[in-house]
Parts: sequence; structure tokens; C-alpha cells
Amino acid sequence: MVTYIEADAAPYKNTGVIRLYGPEGFEGMRKACQVTARCLDELVARVSPGVTTDEIDRFVFEFGMDHGALPATLNYRGYTKSSCTSINHVVCHGIPNDKPLREGDIVNIDVTYVVDGWHGDSSRMYPVGEIKRAAERLLDVTHECLMRGIAAVRPGARTGAIGEAIQAYAEAERCSVVRDFCGHGVGRLFHDAPNILHYGSANDGPELKEGMIFTIEPMINLGRPHVKVLSDGWTAVTRDRSLSAQYEHTVGVTADGCEIFTLSPAGLFKPGIHVAGDA
Ligand code: MF3
Ligand code: CO
Ligand code: CO
Repeated sequence: MVTYIEADAAPYKNTGVIRLYGPEGFEGMRKACQVTARCLDELVARVSPGVTTDEIDRFVFEFGMDHGALPATLNYRGYTKSSCTSINHVVCHGIPNDKPLREGDIVNIDVTYVVDGWHGDSSRMYPVGEIKRAAERLLDVTHECLMRGIAAVRPGARTGAIGEAIQAYAEAERCSVVRDFCGHGVGRLFHDAPNILHYGSANDGPELKEGMIFTIEPMINLGRPHVKVLSDGWTAVTRDRSLSAQYEHTVGVTADGCEIFTLSPAGLFKPGIHVAGDA
């Protein structure tokens, strides 16, 4: 059975009960998510060939320190970085390192800041210099998947409506949806109930109610959906080494739809892409 609870009355752990937040929760999330969105905006000009993902990660840490925000991933279940940086066939949870980005790479940068106890979770794709046509198409499809998932959010629908919208579009575009990772409730906790699957049927899952806050973060592959996790215990890659992409927003359910907390103030959520060979 699915149960819901007023967020203030809930214990500070994931018990499977779905928290419903009020106006203070929404205000707290706006603040935290906007620090995350501004950091991701700042990164647009900083991602280029030769930059290492460690340098990106250091920027994320310092931007947080300058804005009263702690990276939620620091020391989270043994993770030691301020961000995840997932390049090309890496699906998610790539660990920043000292290797320089190369022209033509596509990299997802995923940041979660905690501000006054509220978690703002978002990720975007960054093209490194000029990318290939196939990579551009994957970014377009994945971004559209996220936006179609968001468009399905309204009270009375089920979480499965989000997954159905995403899967239908991805597969119509001959791409595949990763099953092994999902969106999640977020707010006071980093990862909370419910799970938001990026595939399935509109009849599946708990009913959406005003006050729920969660992420939608589809991972879409050009090839098959299967992933494996490398021996570092984090890095998830496509088994067939096909390209993978992901965009993530944190949203709150309103009376007639949803509010996207992690919108880019500079309009850089999906920056212009340069394709190799085009004028
Ligand atoms: N931010 C990721 C998410 O979207 C979670 C990263 S957890 C980490 O849920 F430990 F891998 F950083
Ligand atoms: Co998330
Ligand atoms: Co994230």
C-alpha cells in the first residue's frame, strides 16, 4: 500500500512513505535548486577540450562553498567527489579524474547541493567542442524525453505516466531507456520514495499528489539498454559501449501540473550544439 505523509511529520529517513511538502518546502527547494542550476550554467563556458573532470569537480565544490551549499555526494555511501561526470558510453555516476576531456566527447555533469537542508539535484549534457551528428541526435532525444516526462506530471496521474511518455518517445526514436537507475523523491532527503521509473505504463506506480517533490532523470542509449558497473563500484557503462545521455530536473507537483525547480536562469539547460562538418 502507498502512504503519504506531511513532510514535517515524517522521520528523517526513507521509510517508503511519500512526503508531501508545503509552501516552505517549495521555497526551500527553489533556493537549493537555483544554486545547482547556476553552477551548471557557469560550467557551460568551462567545459572544453583539455579541461579535466577533476577541475570541473573542484569548481563545483568551490561554487558551493561560495553560495552556502554543500555537495550532497561528498562522502555519500563512500563517494568522495562533489559531482558525477559521465562521458560518452558512461551512463551515470562517472567519477571525476585527471584525464582531459577531448573534442567530440559528450559529458553529463550531475550536481546536488544541499542548502538549509534542502537538496537540489540536476544534471545536463555538455558537448565538448564539436560533436558528431549521432551524439547531437542523442542529446536532442534525451532532452525531449525529460521534457515529455515532465509534461505528464499532474495530480491524479500515476508515476508510470512519466515513464510511459519517456519510453514511448525514446523507442520511437530508435533509442533505448536504461532500466537500472531511476528518478527519486528528493527534498529533505537526497534519495527518497517514490522511485520514478523512466519506462512502463501509465497505470503503474503511486498516484501523484500536490506537494510531492522528485527528480526525473532519464538515461537514454543509442544502442541497447543494458549497463554494467565497473570495478570502482560506481561507474555505470553501456554493455555494448554505445553512447548514453542523461538530463535531470527536480520538480514539485502543483495543483495543476508541476514546477521545475532546476530551470536554468541563463537559458543554458541545453546549450547550442556544434556538429563537426557543419558550417
Ligand atoms: N545525483 C545523482 C542522482 O541524480 C546521484 C549521485 S550519487 C553519487 O541521483 F554518489 F554517485 F554521487
Ligand atoms: Co537524482
Ligand atoms: Co543527480
